Amino acid sequence: MSRDTWLVLAIAVGWSAAVGLVGVVAAWALRHRSIRWSAVLLTAVAVVGVVAGVMGTAQAMFLSEHDLQVVVLVCVASGAVTAAFALWLGRRVVGSALTLRDAARRFGEDGEFTGTTDGPLELDTVAAELARSSDRLREAADRERRLESSRRELVAWVSHDLRTPLAQIRAMAEALEDGIADDPARYHAQMRSQVDRMVGMVDDLFELSRINSGALQLSLETVDVGDLVSEAIVGATPVAQAKGVRIDGAVEAGVQVQGDPAALARVVGNLVTNAVRHTPEDGVVEIRGRSGAEQVELVVSDRCGGIPDRDLDRVFDVGWRGSNARTPSASTGAGLGLAIVRGLVEAHLGTVAVANGGDGCRFVVRLPA
Ligand SMILES: Nc1ncnc2c1ncn2[C@@H]1O[C@H](COP(=O)(O)OP(=O)(O)OP(=O)(O)O)[C@@H](O)[C@H]1O
Ligand SMILES: [Mg+2]
Repeated sequence: MSRDTWLVLAIAVGWSAAVGLVGVVAAWALRHRSIRWSAVLLTAVAVVGVVAGVMGTAQAMFLSEHDLQVVVLVCVASGAVTAAFALWLGRRVVGSALTLRDAARRFGEDGEFTGTTDGPLELDTVAAELARSSDRLREAADRERRLESSRRELVAWVSHDLRTPLAQIRAMAEALEDGIADDPARYHAQMRSQVDRMVGMVDDLFELSRINSGALQLSLETVDVGDLVSEAIVGATPVAQAKGVRIDGAVEAGVQVQGDPAALARVVGNLVTNAVRHTPEDGVVEIRGRSGAEQVELVVSDRCGGIPDRDLDRVFDVGWRGSNARTPSASTGAGLGLAIVRGLVEAHLGTVAVANGGDGCRFVVRLPA
């Protein structure tokens, strides 16, 4: 390139850069204004930058007066057209942003996001993100509603479950008092078993409230999973034998967890009691324990015939006791057992899940080893 060309280039760059610098200051001043003004500023900087470059080179005698007039005229004309185009483009973006703002405002008011934009990719992404948040909020609200209804049912059932045995105990006590009980020993035994049931229920309620209020204090020690399972089997054997259900426990040797022995015994006990309760005569309840890389896994499978899919994520809710268990009876509990299981397992930083498989369901507890 000749020296003159270099000179022209330097002059053009110098002037355009000066205009660009003014543009930067203007952009900073306009930063809180509508994006429309930024679009106009962009075209203004482009056009004025060209005009300034051309004027600069004209002054250095590289252009005749006539050529300069022509170039400036062309720049002004195309500048006006480009500015109009920038305004139109800016208005489209602003329109999309306003639609999104209105949809977001409605989202804030009624918790549901229904807006879409046909605007630029960034606004579409924001709309998609808001739609996702809306879905998550709806799910959380549904879950809260379900839990609330479970809690209401729990209160109703617990009062019913406590009132019935209390009424029976009172009737039996009165009969004993009046000396009209034909078999006092049977009355005493029945009163005792009713009281035991009530004590169990009150105990569960107490445990659950301790878990929910965060007042649970675990005293951690090394617990042998095999021992836990043996104890649970011993506890469940009388009921299982009466029902003709076999309990089959197998835990790999030496599997241990760090945990609170009483809490973990309650977890395994609740799962095994449920499994025995829901397994028909001649069925088998299997308990398997093994240790993996970083966790210990305990699986309790039964022959309950499967839990309906729509109920699977409700079994751990407080007070839920099966969609067919509208009327409480002696064979159903208070719906607290699995809520306690989940609370205790999570307090041990573990997880518990349920899935259907075979002709029953499997409860899987995973605890950090
Ligand atoms: N092993 C299982 N097989 C099939 N259904 C089960 C099993 N375990 C629990 N369920 C269902 O989940 C419900 C809730 O169980 P959960 O242990 O929380 O309460 P419960 O056994 O009814 O009463 P509680 O344990 O307080 O005496 C049960 O009522 C039952 O419908
Ligand atoms: Mg139970």
